[in-house]
Amino acid sequence: MKIILDKKGSSQLHKFREILINEIINKYPKFDKNLSNIHKYIKYNEVNDLRINLFKKINKSNWEKKLKELLGQDLIKIIGPDISIQTKLNLSILMPNDKTSLLPMHSDTWSADSPFQINSWIPLTDTFDSNSMYLLDEKQSINALKKISKLKIDNKNIFKNIKVKRKDFINLEFGKILIFNPTLIHGNVINKTHSTRVSLNIRFKSLFSPEPKNNPDRQFGAYYKDFVISKNTNFALSILKNNKF
Ligand SMILES: [Fe+2]
Repeated sequence: MKIILDKKGSSQLHKFREILINEIINKYPKFDKNLSNIHKYIKYNEVNDLRINLFKKINKSNWEKKLKELLGQDLIKIIGPDISIQTKLNLSILMPNDKTSLLPMHSDTWSADSPFQINSWIPLTDTFDSNSMYLLDEKQSINALKKISKLKIDNKNIFKNIKVKRKDFINLEFGKILIFNPTLIHGNVINKTHSTRVSLNIRFKSLFSPEPKNNPDRQFGAYYKDFVISKNTNFALSILKNNKF
């Protein structure tokens, strides 16, 4: 499941970008306000601290409201009218040749995430080639997952047989958003472009999808919270709360 949404007209994306730019300028006053150029102002050993600062800043902003406006109606069409959202908005920065920010090939179900969830990947810069993420298609992902569960072999042995092709990288202009089921195999590689990629990501799932059995960390309350609740479900929940059946 992979959908690309065109949100070029949305002011919310610009607001997210402004929050980050202002925070970077606080620490690096010469910054030219172009997130693709972060690497020109920041050393590799500073990027993790910057990422943590920006993560804190953006999570203190009214990000849930912005996302509701940006994605609410699209998400309702994809996973239904009652939606829970991950408790924190995640932020990635991938500078050219930075070997410390790599996300190895994986499927989120390997960390006991629910296969019912979807991930939104929201670039705040243009993403292309190796500064982007790759996402394998359903056929490749299902085959790899089948092999892993049947043979119970080490995941790394499977990776050796999976070749990531150039077409597997997600090329998006700023303003476009990728929605995908993170059961599909994905990851990133060393950014060999001359452009830093900055992206947000956050997961959603139907409030009524089954809770993952093997990992309490991934359950509602710890990992997810309410996002959009339909009128009927709100009514039903108030009935359950106030009455003993
Ligand atoms: Fe992932």
